[in-house]
Amino acid sequence: MSGLENVVVAETEMSMVDGAKGALWLRGVPVAELAPSVETALSLFGLSGDLESARVSAQAHPQTVVTGPPIDSVRATVASLPSDASPATLIATVALATARSVRASAEFGGQTEHAAALLRAIRRSEVTTAEARAFARYLVTVADHGMNASTFAARVVASTGSDLVSAVTAALGALKGPLHGGAPGPVLDMLDAIAESGDAIGYLEAKLARKERIMGMGHRVYRVRDPRAAVLSGALEELAAGAPSPRLALAREVEQVAERLLAARYPERSLRANVEFYTAILLEALQIPRELFTCVFACGRVIGWCAHFEEQQRTGRLLRPRAKYVGAVPTREFSCAADGE
Ligand code: COA
Repeated sequence: MSGLENVVVAETEMSMVDGAKGALWLRGVPVAELAPSVETALSLFGLSGDLESARVSAQAHPQTVVTGPPIDSVRATVASLPSDASPATLIATVALATARSVRASAEFGGQTEHAAALLRAIRRSEVTTAEARAFARYLVTVADHGMNASTFAARVVASTGSDLVSAVTAALGALKGPLHGGAPGPVLDMLDAIAESGDAIGYLEAKLARKERIMGMGHRVYRVRDPRAAVLSGALEELAAGAPSPRLALAREVEQVAERLLAARYPERSLRANVEFYTAILLEALQIPRELFTCVFACGRVIGWCAHFEEQQRTGRLLRPRAKYVGAVPTREFSCAADGE
């Protein structure tokens, strides 16, 4: 019962995750075959709206700045949208609020493609076609992933008949938690430390001896390598375009050593690289600041949240599970009426 593991809470046509086979389909398309385009993903998920004009309108909406990590300002800005905002408005606002959380004056510029516009707004520098393509590949790869915690949060809100803005605000709150959207930053810290010492085996063995987890390895659902890791590793290769990439070479070496050490320690498990491992290296290669990694994840996953919101609303059914009471028992029999109801 703990953690709702393996509990089916909804039927969905959005994505299929097979943890044993390492398969992931989004709307019936294997993740590796998705077109690297946010616009295409939008229509794949049955969402309507024009992202280009939504981006223009989003620029007129003020950023709400709150103390805390950038994701807090993204959440607060989304929460301040009018409650009838459309999916395109939500997607554009999450993107702009992400860029503005590091630079208040961030604007989208003239790009027609969402991924290029967002990457340029974050970096405030020109973006090559290869970079835009790699970033779009990342955004669509993480667009949806079964009944993950933030998507579940969005569906619970949708099921009450509430609005999309409230659902995405709740989802952002869930994504912020380190157990959900927070691993890529620590993956880079690990690679930095190994690059400095030049001793992957020593670093990882010491980590395991201290009973610490190796970031970017293992998954609640996948018992084989996360299929998204292969897609993002491929995107990195494409981005490098044949030029040697010492960071990617180091990452591959660390992945191999980590898998070997984890297999020796947990022979009954299969602890392999997950999506966060190569997310970290790809976002770094795209010069996205580490503190924005969770927000950038939200920029992709918001597509799934909007699609799940609509799917949940169509069911018209309230999500209302039960709790098993294990608390104190009254010391005497009493009726509610007698106690003043
Ligand atoms: N490094 C070291 N040990 C790990 C590990 C990792 N990355 N992942 C799992 N383990 C160990 C656990 O500590 C556990 O050991 P124990 O029984 O001695 O406590 C054992 O392997 C079984 O864990 P499992 O049931 O497969 O993991 P989980 O479902 O509870 O957790 C994660 C899944 C993703 C939370 C976990 O693998 C993890 O913390 N990974 C690192 C963080 C990360 O990359 N998160 C992003 C996920 S997309």
